[in-house]
This record gives sequence, C-alpha cells and structure tokens, in this order.
Amino acid sequence: MYVAHLSLTDFRSYPQVELPLEPGITALVGPNGQGKTNLVEAVGYVATLGSHRVPSDAALVRAGANRAVVRAKVVREERATLVEVEITPGKANRSRINGGSPGRARDVLGILRTVLFAPEDLALVKGDPDGRRRFLDDLLVQLTPRIAGVLGDYERVLRQRSALLKSAAAATRARSGADLRTLDVWDAKLAQTGAQVVVARQALVAALRPRAAHAYEQVSAGQGDLVLTYRSSLDTALGQTPEDHAELAPDAGVELVEARLLDAMGRLRGKEIERGVCLVGPHRDDLVLQLGDLPAKGYASHGESWSVALALRLASYALLTHGVDDAGAWSADWGPDGEPVLILDDVFAELDTRRRERLAELVAGARQVLVTAAVPQDVPEPLAGARVDVMAGEVARVL
Ligand SMILES: Nc1ncnc2c1ncn2[C@@H]1O[C@H](COP(=O)(O)OP(=O)(O)OP(=O)(O)O)[C@@H](O)[C@H]1O
Ligand SMILES: [Mg+2]
Repeated sequence: MYVAHLSLTDFRSYPQVELPLEPGITALVGPNGQGKTNLVEAVGYVATLGSHRVPSDAALVRAGANRAVVRAKVVREERATLVEVEITPGKANRSRINGGSPGRARDVLGILRTVLFAPEDLALVKGDPDGRRRFLDDLLVQLTPRIAGVLGDYERVLRQRSALLKSAAAATRARSGADLRTLDVWDAKLAQTGAQVVVARQALVAALRPRAAHAYEQVSAGQGDLVLTYRSSLDTALGQTPEDHAELAPDAGVELVEARLLDAMGRLRGKEIERGVCLVGPHRDDLVLQLGDLPAKGYASHGESWSVALALRLASYALLTHGVDDAGAWSADWGPDGEPVLILDDVFAELDTRRRERLAELVAGARQVLVTAAVPQDVPEPLAGARVDVMAGEVARVL
C-alpha cells in the first residue's frame, strides 16, 4: 500500500498543507523545525491514531486552533480509500471514509499500516514501561483493528475504577466509611476487558520474539541474544517472586487471565483502597527486553540500545508484512499489497554503517518509504528518490 496524498488542516505547525506522494522513496528535506516530522507524524497518526512523539493529542492541534484534520488517500491494489480523521482534544475524535458520514475514529484502523523509525525509539529501550506498552498496542491495532475497541473500553473502566478507589481512599482517611458497593462491578469489568488486552499482547510478544531476535542478530553482527518477555503485573503485584508463583503461562487463555485478575484484585483490595490506585492489570504490565541475561534497560550500551530499538521496528515490519507463518490469528486479515509504509524520521544521522545497511535493505523492498532529513547528505545515496523541500510550512516538490 502507499499514501498518494496527504492533506492537513491545523495539524501541528500547518494551517493547511497539501502533499501529493508517490510509491517508492520520497525524501522530505529542510532545516530544523520546518515541519518535516509533523508531516510523517500525521501519516503515522492515520495508521495508529497516535503520535510517536506525544502520548496525548493536544500538541497535535495547531496552537490557537481547536481541532485538526488529517486526510490521507491510501492506495492498495490500485484502489484508493480516502481517510479523514478529525482530532479534537478532550472530545471523541471522529473519522470519515471516502467522504461518508462521520463515524468513530477507530473505524479507519487497518486501512493504512505504517512502521515508523525515529530518534524517540531509543526510549523504548531506555524509558518507562508506558512507552513499551504503547509500542505493543500501536502494533496490535494495526494487526487486529478490533482490539482498539477493547483497549478503549479498558481505559474507560480503568479511569472509573481508579476514581472510585481514590474516593474510597479519601473516605477511609476521613473515617466516613467508603461506599464499596459498586467496586465489585468495576472489578469484574476490569478483569473482563483487561484479560483480553493481556492475552492479545502476549500473543503479539510471542510472534515478535523470534523476529526481533533474528533482527537483533543481524544489526549487531551476532553480539548477544535479544529476548522479549511480556511481564504481567499478575506476576509482580502480589509481591511474589516468580519462584513463589507459577508465572502467567504465555498461552494462558482469556478466561484464566480474567479469573486471576479478579483473584488478584480481591487480595489487593485493602492496599488499593489505601493507595487509591489500580495495582493490577495491563496498565501495569511491561515488555521486558533482555540482552543475554541482563535487562537492556539500565545495562545496554548506547549502541546496543539502538540495535534493540531497531530490531523491534524491523520485527514489526516483518510481522505487518508477512503476518504469522502458521495458521496464526493474524494471517487471515492479510490481503495482497498489505505491506506497511515505511517511515524513517531523522534516523540516519544516529546509525552506524552496519545499521544503516540493514535499514537500506529493508527500504529496497518496501512499496513506499518516507524519509526526513535536515540536509540532503543525510539521506544515503541509494535512497535518493523523489525529493520534497519543506520550508516554513510550505512543501515543494523538487523536480
Ligand atoms: N501544535 C503546534 N502548533 C503550532 N506549531 C507547532 C505545534 N507543534 C509543533 N509546532 C512547531 O512545529 C515545528 C517543528 O516541526 P517538526 O518537528 O516537523 O520539525 P522538523 O522539520 O522535523 O525539524 P527537525 O529537523 O529539527 O527534526 C516547531 O517549530 C514547532 O514549534
Ligand atoms: Mg524532525
């Protein structure tokens, strides 16, 4: 697939911009701060309904405007689909497909797929678990768009239950007696939606694991093994070490996880009320990245961390392109021409020769590649495709 046209209204620095695109490689070139990343960020938004730079939508709307609109014409198997997403912070985002009537934003998921490499990827390795959870969820919604509904439900349930726990905590402190009648209902809802999220993420990690290990071996020239593990808060929240408690089996079914979440909430209730937070659930889980026996976070060198980040993206690309080999859950939704648009935001300056070469190989087979760079020299020679100059909010195709 590829994006044939991008149009932005009040997105980031752009009051309005039109960018026609073609399959193959396009380099977006211009000095710092001119709006290159803003353009590719918008493309990524259409694929994941999220930004690779900020966790919430507010910064995506141009200062002074109250909503942003991203439109993309996505071509797959010669058929074009016009996708339009309206971003209104604080309200539910809306979308339209082929000019139809407005619907939920998540209806557009699955139409465009992207894999985006960016300097921010380093935070996947060095940063907090929320970035890694977002990595998994962004990939999940591209693989199985219907999980977006479950994730949305989970977030809503989590907010409600957290609010309830907070007021219970306040009531307990004031010795006025907490009203806990509704808590059981929210426990059940949290367990029900949370279990689906946990199981989907575990299956994803299992599918990513061999691909990431393979990619890491290639980018690092065989120095050490990368191992991905999904760490569930079910295994950590009760203060047990894995030796005390059989770890959540990687193939645990939804019902089993749901039962264990309920059980954990029952046991943690006192603590949760005392602290006023939900202590167990997918919002406290993590994707653990290990190099050999050591965790990458806190131990890996800068170069190794880059290799790990790159391996995660390369594995994502492989998964989005080929699905799962066996009769896995994701191979069914695949059609021809489904490979993702590859976005390389400012990455070449950061990478050494070997890593550049790996990326270049990937680029060679990709249907569409969007590269950003401050100076044309930062774009490796084999990637010299079409060029668009980006300057002060204007885009101009260089002929
Ligand atoms: N919500 C917003 N409203 C207005 N301007 C914004 C908004 N968000 C970002 N900007 C502006 O957009 C510009 C950054 O654009 P962008 O990140 O695309 O730059 P870039 O061309 O990728 O630069 P670099 O080469 O440094 O990566 C900044 O000048 C920033 O102030
Ligand atoms: Mg940039």
